Amino acid sequence: MNNKRIIIIGGGVIGLGIGWQLAKAGAAVTIHERGQAGRGASWAAGGMLGPIAEAHIDELDLLKLSNQSLERYPEWVDELESETEMTIGYRAEGTLIIGINPDDSYQLKHAYNLYKDLGLNVEWLSGQEARKIEGALSPYVTAAIRCETDHQVDNRLMVQALEHAYLGRGGVLQQNSNVEKIVIENGNVTGIQTQDGFQDADVCILAAGCWSGQINGLPDSMIPPVRPVKGQMLALQMREDNMISNVVRTVKARYPMPVYLVPRKDGRLVIGATTEELGFDTDLIVGGIYELLHGAFEAVPSFYDLPLIETWTGLRPGSSDNAPILGKTPVGNLIYATGHYRNGILLTPITAYEISKLILTGETPETIAPFHLDRFSDE
Ligand code: FAD
Ligand code: GLY
Repeated sequence: MNNKRIIIIGGGVIGLGIGWQLAKAGAAVTIHERGQAGRGASWAAGGMLGPIAEAHIDELDLLKLSNQSLERYPEWVDELESETEMTIGYRAEGTLIIGINPDDSYQLKHAYNLYKDLGLNVEWLSGQEARKIEGALSPYVTAAIRCETDHQVDNRLMVQALEHAYLGRGGVLQQNSNVEKIVIENGNVTGIQTQDGFQDADVCILAAGCWSGQINGLPDSMIPPVRPVKGQMLALQMREDNMISNVVRTVKARYPMPVYLVPRKDGRLVIGATTEELGFDTDLIVGGIYELLHGAFEAVPSFYDLPLIETWTGLRPGSSDNAPILGKTPVGNLIYATGHYRNGILLTPITAYEISKLILTGETPETIAPFHLDRFSDE
């Protein structure tokens, strides 16, 4: 197996994560990244590892996969940090989902009951109890759900560490290499076409985020149903006397829109995000930033005085059922690892471990079996 030439299209967390695991096992891997590695959705993300806070009652397979990935995070962090001697900002303080008026409390209670029915690890808190955990929360906070196991990682540090680890294991990274076409002959992938010509491969992994459906050469029935979902984000710089340490998320029964506040170890506070179906548009909009700040100040009024240090947008790779598309396809040796939508940072370890296992053994691990492309065939 190890002498097979493996090409990965896309150098985000997913491509780099799989590439690292394969290179570590001794495989010959080349990642083709059309820009700079790790600067797509993987750079834009909030870094929340939040299977509970992002859970939907009709997405139980995804919840299971998310929990399995979360369980593997400590091992992933240890492996990555010790191999690179870099830190990736993993924080395990947890997440508070807060309500700021009686309507929010009602909505929170409904969510809490659903979480309980699903057997998730959540705790109901009064507003006062929530403020005991995070003293900076607004006096208007009415109630909260504590998700002690919903953690976070600094996704920007993680992509940099992944690139370092991948290269350290002998992986090849071709940046500014645009994959124009996946070449298929007699039902098998034979390579890719870039601006520099044909590159042959025994195995090809499509991990091009929200652009995965745009590469030529795939039969129509195999174009992955992945679309861009825009998120506007911003960052403030917290001061030592004005900080939070848990991830704080608002639930909003009414306006402003729900927001999340993700405190990094270096005092940076990431605030997100809008969810916009606007194709590949990446404009920052005054209204979006206003909504984010409005939501954040309702949660933590003292943040009003903090410096605004960055604004940006990113494009989530959303699939038609919000779950990733993982594993074998009808084309021989063409593997998909895309469509991770809102949870790609959370799902990186399970994707990297299981897709590399699939390639090294030829067997689909049970964990990812429900996420094949063929689940869309009946649509
Ligand atoms: P990307 O990081 O987008 O990487 C794909 C790469 O493929 C890009 O670098 C691109 O240049 C390259 N590429 C595309 N086409 C080609 C081509 N033809 N040839 C060569 N290269 C190509 N997830 C969480 O778990 N927690 C969060 O808190 C969270 N917050 C988010 C907030 C926002 C605003 C956004 C946008 C996303 C968020 N996500 C979050 C989701 C997460 O960021 C994504 O699911 C994840 O980064 C997807 O990783 P990826 O490697 O598939 O995609
Ligand atoms: N998971 C957070 C986001 O997608 O905005």
